[in-house]
Amino acid sequence: MKDQENFLCHLNMKTSTTLSRLMFSLLLLIAVPYLFYSINSLKILRSPPNPSPLPLSLPVTLPVHLNVSTSEPLLENPKTLHENTTLHHIVFGIGASSKLWDHRKNYIKLWWRPDEMRGIVWLDEHVKKDPDDDNLLPPIMISSNTSDFPYKNPKGHRSAIRISRIISETLKLGMKDVRWFVMGDDDTVFVADNLVRVLSKYDHNQYYYIGSSSESHLQNIYFSYGMAYGGGGFAISYPLAKELARMQDRCIKRYPELYGSDDRIQACMAELGVPLTREPGFHQYDVYGNLYGLLAAHPIAPLVSLHHLDLVEPIFPDMDRIQSLQKLKVPMQLDSAGLMQQSICYDQTRQWTISVSWGYTVQIFRGIIPPREIEKPARTFLNWYPKAGYKAFAFNTRSLSKNSCQRPSIYCLADAVYTGNNKNGTVSMYVGPNISNPDCKWKISNPSQIVKVEVYKRPDPYFWNKAPRRNCCRILPTKKKRTLVIDVGECQKDEVIEIR
Ligand SMILES: *[C@@H]1O[C@H](CO)[C@@H](O)[C@H](O)[C@H]1NC(C)=O
Ligand SMILES: *[C@@H]1O[C@H](CO)[C@@H](O)[C@H](O)[C@H]1NC(C)=O
Ligand SMILES: *[C@@H]1O[C@H](CO)[C@@H](O)[C@H](O)[C@H]1NC(C)=O
Ligand SMILES: *[C@@H]1O[C@H](CO)[C@@H](O)[C@H](O)[C@H]1NC(C)=O
Ligand SMILES: *[C@@H]1O[C@H](CO)[C@@H](O)[C@H](O)[C@H]1NC(C)=O
Repeated sequence: MKDQENFLCHLNMKTSTTLSRLMFSLLLLIAVPYLFYSINSLKILRSPPNPSPLPLSLPVTLPVHLNVSTSEPLLENPKTLHENTTLHHIVFGIGASSKLWDHRKNYIKLWWRPDEMRGIVWLDEHVKKDPDDDNLLPPIMISSNTSDFPYKNPKGHRSAIRISRIISETLKLGMKDVRWFVMGDDDTVFVADNLVRVLSKYDHNQYYYIGSSSESHLQNIYFSYGMAYGGGGFAISYPLAKELARMQDRCIKRYPELYGSDDRIQACMAELGVPLTREPGFHQYDVYGNLYGLLAAHPIAPLVSLHHLDLVEPIFPDMDRIQSLQKLKVPMQLDSAGLMQQSICYDQTRQWTISVSWGYTVQIFRGIIPPREIEKPARTFLNWYPKAGYKAFAFNTRSLSKNSCQRPSIYCLADAVYTGNNKNGTVSMYVGPNISNPDCKWKISNPSQIVKVEVYKRPDPYFWNKAPRRNCCRILPTKKKRTLVIDVGECQKDEVIEIR
C-alpha cells in the first residue's frame, strides 16, 4: 500500500492498513448484502437513543401561539431587509468543555476575528485565563445549571442539555442588530466570509434553520436526515431563536432519551414545524482517515465549516493539524469564495484529465475521464462505522484505483499570492508528486513528469450571487519545464467542456 502515499496530500500508514483491512471487510460485506443495515451488529460510536417511539399517552403539549407575528422585527426595524447581511449581524454560540479547552481553543483562534465578530464560548466550568489568549478568542461564559433537566440516554452525556440551550442563553444577553445565531463546537472551523455569503441568501426576518447532515447514512438514520449536525454548525434566524427560547425548556423535558444537543434542537424545530434548510458547505465530517477525497471534490457550494479535525489526519503533509489549517488560511484570505472549488479540464494532446481544487490540490489523471466521475469524492476516508463501508455514505463516492495507470499525480498547495494585477488575480502554486507514478503500459505520457502547477485565478467575491456553476480551467502555454500553468475562472458562455 506504500505507493498510495502518492495519492494524497497526506496519508499515513496507519490509515493504509485500516484501508486494506477495510477492503477485506468490504469483500465480506458484498458477500452478505444488507448485513450493514443490521445496525445492532455495528460498533456504535456516537450511539443512538433507543428508537422507542413516543408512547401515545405521553402528555405532549405542543406550543400554541396563535398570535405570533413573524414580521415583528421587520416592524421594529424596517431598514434591516435592505441592508446586506454582514459578519456584524451574526452572533456565534460555541459549545465547549473546560476539560478540552486548552487544546480546542486553538481551533477557534484560527477563524475568530475579535474586532469583527460577536459571540460567546459557553463552558461547563471556569478555566484559568491565559493572558496570551487576550483578544484572540471570544468571551467565555459558563452555562447555567441544567441538573434539573432529565437525561436518560445510556450512552450520551448530559452536557447535551446545556449545549442545546446555548442559543437561548445567548439570545438572553440581548445583543443588538442580530440576524442570525450560529452554533458550532470547539472543534469546528468556520470560513466566516462564506458563512455570510450563505446566510445573505435568506430573509433573516423569517424562520430559518440552516445546516447540513452527516456524511454517514447510518448516523442520519439514527438521528435524522432532518437534523442540522451541531459540529458542522448551523444557523437559526433571530425570530426563530426567539420562538425557540420561548418553548425550549419545556421541549427539552419532553425528550430525555435523546443523545445529543443537536437532536434536541431538531426535536424542538419539528414541534415548531421548521424544516432543515440544507446547505452543503457545512461539514460535520463524520469520517476517519483522510479528508483529501472530500476536499478535492467539494460540492459546488461555498465551503462554510470543517469539523472533527482531531479525528482525521492533518490536511497537508509534514505538519500538524493546526499548522495545516493555518496554511489553508492563505488562500482563504485571498479568495474565500473560490476556496476548494473544483474545476476540471483536459490536456487533449497529452490525454490527461486535470482536476483543480482551488487553494488545496491539483490532480492529473492519465486518460480522459468524464466530469461525472471526477466530481465524486475518492474514498480516502473511512465511514464513521468502519464496518459499514462505502455503501453507507450519504452521497456518491469513487474507489481508489488499484491500477497504477489510473492513479493520479497529486500536487499540494505550496503557496498562494496576489499577482499584483487584476487581470491575473492570484497565483497559487502546487507541488508534487513526492513518489513517482510507476510506469504503466498505457501509451499516455506519465503525468508525474510535472512537478509544479501554477494556477491563476481572479477572485470573484460575487461568484455565489449567480446560479451555481463549476468554474472552468484552461491550460496555458508555458516554456517553464515540468510545470503546468492553468487559468481558472468563470466559464464563458460558449465555453463547454466536451470530452472527446
Ligand atoms: C394579538 O396581539 C395583539 C398585539 O400584540 C393584541 O392586541 C391582541 O390582543 C392579541 N390577540 C390575541 C388573541 O392574543
Ligand atoms: C449588497 O450586495 C450587492 C451584491 O450582492 C451589492 O451590489 C449592493 O451594492 C450591496 N448593497 C449595499 C447596500 O451594500
Ligand atoms: C446545580 O443544581 C443542583 C440542584 O438543583 C445542585 O445540587 C448543584 O450543586 C448545582 N450545581 C452547580 C454547579 O451549581
Ligand atoms: C499574467 O500571467 C501570464 C502567465 O504567467 C503572464 O504571461 C502575463 O504576463 C501576466 N499578465 C500580466 C498582466 O501580468
Ligand atoms: C514531499 O516530501 C517532502 C519531504 O518529506 C516534504 O517536505 C514535501 O512537503 C512533500 N510534498 C508533498 C507534495 O507531499
